[in-house]
Amino acid sequence: MDAIELIKERRSVRKYKNDKVDRDTMKEIVELSKWAPSWANYQIARYTLVDDETVIKRLADEGVHGFSYNIKTLQNAKGVAVLSFVKGKSGKLDTPKGSYEPSANNVWEVFDAGIACQTFCLAAHAKGVGTCIFGVIDDEKISEIVNLPAEESVAALIVYGYEDGEHAKPTSRKEVDEILRFV
Ligand SMILES: Cc1cc2nc3c(=O)[nH]c(=O)nc-3n(C[C@H](O)[C@H](O)[C@H](O)COP(=O)(O)O)c2cc1C
Repeated sequence: MDAIELIKERRSVRKYKNDKVDRDTMKEIVELSKWAPSWANYQIARYTLVDDETVIKRLADEGVHGFSYNIKTLQNAKGVAVLSFVKGKSGKLDTPKGSYEPSANNVWEVFDAGIACQTFCLAAHAKGVGTCIFGVIDDEKISEIVNLPAEESVAALIVYGYEDGEHAKPTSRKEVDEILRFV
């Protein structure tokens, strides 16, 4: 699959087959995800992969603020990645010539996590695994459920699995003239 096809054919997948994705395949997907760029190459993204049905049920019951749409997706999911990041690193640049703390220095860790998230989703798609990012989540509850290390914060859930039925239809996109300007 070439890069253009990969970008255009990735979809949010919300219907999954019963088969679990084996851990070796998921390890390959994280192996690819680690090539995501990051602030000063700090590589703060972490992936906690949940394939235990009891824990997935807890994520559905307690981790998505009761949002029924997400609960429904989790009810047929066989795997969920808790994407987290190590706090307090990205946004500060320490060099032998000095330290730099740019404006909006609190957003870069989430920015890193976002790049890691899309890289994970594209890598999964390349391996035939569907994904759906969840932002409607209760990060503190999820940290507790998966026993996340104290130095990490949850950025998103990424539900993953083999897609059931036809590939999800493309969602609409703005015209390029609405989002592009040249100066
Ligand atoms: C940051 C972020 C948060 C999202 N949160 C949710 C969510 O909580 N539940 C859900 O079903 N989809 C969620 N989505 C998926 C979007 O709805 C989806 O990406 C968008 O509609 C475009 O569709 P596509 O991914 O199939 O191209 C989220 C996507 C992103 C990037």
